[in-house]
Amino acid sequence: MITHSKVILDEEDLAGVTKVLRSGLLAQGKYVSSLEEKTASFIGVNHAVAVSSGTAALHLSLLSLEIGVGSEVIIPSYVCTALLNAINYVRATPILVDIDPGTYNIKAEDIKRVISERTRAIIVPHMFGLPSDIDSIVSLDIPVIEDCAHSVGAKFRGRYTGSFGLLSIFSFYATKMLGGGEGGMVLSNNLDLIETIRDLRDYDEKKTYTVRYNYKLTDIQAALVESQLRKLPLFIERRKKIAKIYNNGLDGLGAATPLVPEGREHIYYRYVISLENSLQFMKEMGKRGIECRRPVFKPLHRYLKLPGYYATDEVWEKAVSIPVYPSLKTEETHLIVDSVKRILGA
Ligand SMILES: Cc1ncc(COP(=O)(O)O)c(C=O)c1O
Repeated sequence: MITHSKVILDEEDLAGVTKVLRSGLLAQGKYVSSLEEKTASFIGVNHAVAVSSGTAALHLSLLSLEIGVGSEVIIPSYVCTALLNAINYVRATPILVDIDPGTYNIKAEDIKRVISERTRAIIVPHMFGLPSDIDSIVSLDIPVIEDCAHSVGAKFRGRYTGSFGLLSIFSFYATKMLGGGEGGMVLSNNLDLIETIRDLRDYDEKKTYTVRYNYKLTDIQAALVESQLRKLPLFIERRKKIAKIYNNGLDGLGAATPLVPEGREHIYYRYVISLENSLQFMKEMGKRGIECRRPVFKPLHRYLKLPGYYATDEVWEKAVSIPVYPSLKTEETHLIVDSVKRILGA
């Protein structure tokens, strides 16, 4: 069976984790601080706070911006429910935007249409590793939280995603670009926001009381993520190589994949194709031992029963994510291409 996604672990990762275990100091400590410094320096941002998940990173980002009841936060409909949850945790109002069907990302001109006097932030994911048009969105002059859960290491006009927003968030879920089992991070050049987030991450030994959280990352997770961060360029190189095999092998089959606009670097966290009969296709691939998935389980407007969002609906119905991860073998990629060809009758 070729699984849809897979954790990457090598001897160096195991040695890093073992070192922490042997030290007997497992909770948040020097490995977390080191990961914060290394990630901030890699992305090109001044400050970072590690947290327990990408969702926690979003939650604390919204709190740091004092977003609450009566505030509106703009997000895409075509995304996982983590964004919606974070907005609901702070009792703000989510405002959904339809996506650009060509890139699966939200665009400045569509965001502009829903900005009101209550808009306090825009959360901008770079879906599946393809950077959104982040410059145009930042120039709308609303605080931007860049969601880099899929895009660690992807560049927009030569600069890493995560370095454009007022805040940016990362997820270190097991099968993400950097996998720590679970984990997350917030990056920003704004020290006040970062200090607020650092304070809210931990409840213990505080001079005054306010509601705080236990959103800490452990040193065990941090050692694993840092070990992976060192190999990120290799991971990206491998993902791009696989994408090239798919681009060449699937050309002309009617299984469209997003075109990469000029100036953006797609790192292929997901390789998504678009097909008329996606559910049947996934079943057929499964019979051949290849696990494929819908890359977004269900769009947010469908959960919220909101009308419109035609591009999101069309993309969601047709999108299929085929396996792509650094440990996927070249023979497996050829088997995948052959299987897609056979199923699509080429
Ligand atoms: C775009 C996006 N943002 C945020 C998250 C939340 O990350 P986590 O699962 O670490 O809470 C996810 C999760 O997959 C995601 O896809």
